[in-house]
Amino acid sequence: MCGIVGYVGHRQAERVLVGGLRKLEYRGYDSAGLATISEGRVEVRRAVGKLDNLETLLDAEPLSGSVGMGHTRWATHGRPSERNAHPHRAGDVVVIHNGIIENYVQLREELAAAGCVLCSDTDTEVIGHLIEGGRKSGKSLADATRGAIARLRGSFAIVVISSGEPDRLIAAKNATPVVVGLGQGENLVASDIPALLDYTRDVLFLEDGEMAEVTADSVRLSTFDGRVVERAARRITWDPVTAQKGGYKHFLLKEIHEQPTAIIDTLRGRLDQDAASVTLGELEGLEKDIAALEHVTIVACGTAWHAALIGRYAIERLVRLPVDVDYGSEYRYRDPIIDSRTLMIVVSQSGETADTLAAVEAAHERGAKVLAVCNVLDSSIARKADYVLYTHAGPEISVASTKAFTTQLAAFYLLAVWMGRRRGALAAAEEARYVQALAELPLLVEGALKEEEAIARVARQLSGVSDVLYLGRGVNFPVALEGALKLKEISYIHAEGYPSGEMKHGPIALIDEQMPVVVIIPTDEVYEKTLSNLKEVESRGGRILSVTDDADAELARISEWVVPVPRTDSLLMPMILAVPLQLLAYYVAVERGSDVDQPRNLAKSVTVE
Ligand code: M6R
Repeated sequence: MCGIVGYVGHRQAERVLVGGLRKLEYRGYDSAGLATISEGRVEVRRAVGKLDNLETLLDAEPLSGSVGMGHTRWATHGRPSERNAHPHRAGDVVVIHNGIIENYVQLREELAAAGCVLCSDTDTEVIGHLIEGGRKSGKSLADATRGAIARLRGSFAIVVISSGEPDRLIAAKNATPVVVGLGQGENLVASDIPALLDYTRDVLFLEDGEMAEVTADSVRLSTFDGRVVERAARRITWDPVTAQKGGYKHFLLKEIHEQPTAIIDTLRGRLDQDAASVTLGELEGLEKDIAALEHVTIVACGTAWHAALIGRYAIERLVRLPVDVDYGSEYRYRDPIIDSRTLMIVVSQSGETADTLAAVEAAHERGAKVLAVCNVLDSSIARKADYVLYTHAGPEISVASTKAFTTQLAAFYLLAVWMGRRRGALAAAEEARYVQALAELPLLVEGALKEEEAIARVARQLSGVSDVLYLGRGVNFPVALEGALKLKEISYIHAEGYPSGEMKHGPIALIDEQMPVVVIIPTDEVYEKTLSNLKEVESRGGRILSVTDDADAELARISEWVVPVPRTDSLLMPMILAVPLQLLAYYVAVERGSDVDQPRNLAKSVTVE
């Protein structure tokens, strides 16, 4: 993971770099660091923890100079500490890195045997020493970097500066993103576009195997083997939306409450209520291939994977195509059987998740087309996919996904209706019924939010528990998974999601008077089956929290708590049922005093595998 930014120009680099890091902190916040070149010397400042700590250090010990680099770290190799924070220095060379160098142990041993003193536990530090070695043998910074890269195995986006060539920086990319910003008398590099937009809208995206040699007045792209690359700049026309907490205590709570609006934004322009149809203009190119499709594969990670599981229900039911769903991290190491008759759908809020991105490449290698359900405009996945269905959820700042999830569901429902009609699997009357039901969803989500106070009271009673089991059936099993993930990641309570019917195959052994069981139990076709599973919990003394659209007398009797939600078509219920679970996780986390928006050990965007 990690965020990187570099600057060469006429301004004080420190301010530009810190501003850039602010926009990249979602990529990691274990430590942050800056290096600039001033009066022929490289100066480095690093601090453990969030960027605020580095800023405090810079207030006391500012950096001057107009060439520099900045880094915000999500620790992979070496625990979060000042010595493991980037930038890493090796002689007159300084380097920052996002990615993982897989052969670093061998390189460390080799460098140590040659007399190098390695000062950190990171994989990154070897890069600096390899470059320094090249410099000592008389190579330019660019050629020494090229030489070092030839020794590396793994993923990397790196930026290198050296007091020996104080007017430039070198950036290189393999499997993690680097974008170059082209300014007037200044140029920048960064992991992501928003870090550049205060200075320029003209950008060049590096491809894998390419590097950029950047001065204030020039940018030279070349491949790792030295061939010059000519590429036209792209103009970024969208504006980054600066998210504020808007009176909420945390971004997470704000984003939970933004869901009705975010869902409206996903549906906007795509539901034609007069014609009672779904219109997806951005998928026009896909339309002609739909009839020939034989299979859909959906790949995603984390919360997006839960959305994908619900997407499978929607596509199987409305499109009548077989669908399989896989984790990005698993898919890339299988030998998947896909070809041009398969549509791969990748789901990613950030559009930068390394494992999901790798699935796109695997699909393309096998001749399959890729449709991305994505939130971030012009992100790596959006750029690589053949078609993009943007969710338009707006910036999601909190590490825990909420509005990204519900808008991904909205996108799947739209897609399934649209594809179903085009494959002849869905009748016009059914399309009309779904159009109406989809249009009502934002209001129903609003209705679910009204239970906030009651949920906060339940959270106070649950905040001391150490384990929670979440149960759901059918299309709501993924909702159970998502509820459990939310609780785990922000409250640090162990939680597991299970299909209700699977409980008696193992997890039932966990149930006793201490064990809360959260059950997602709408009055759908499997209501009674889930109720039977709950009776099994009740007989073992488990404490039941039911989330339902209608608690009958029996459910009310066996539940210690009941959270009511509005009702809609059973396929669409996950979107409504997820909301109380988000609120529950939030209020439990607040009770426990955790860092709700930036929970420990996590990062918003997982750019390493
Ligand atoms: O940006 P992506 O949607 O690709 O991210 C995938 C996961 O890393 C993400 O959903 C993660 O699980 C969230 N922290 C969950 O709240």
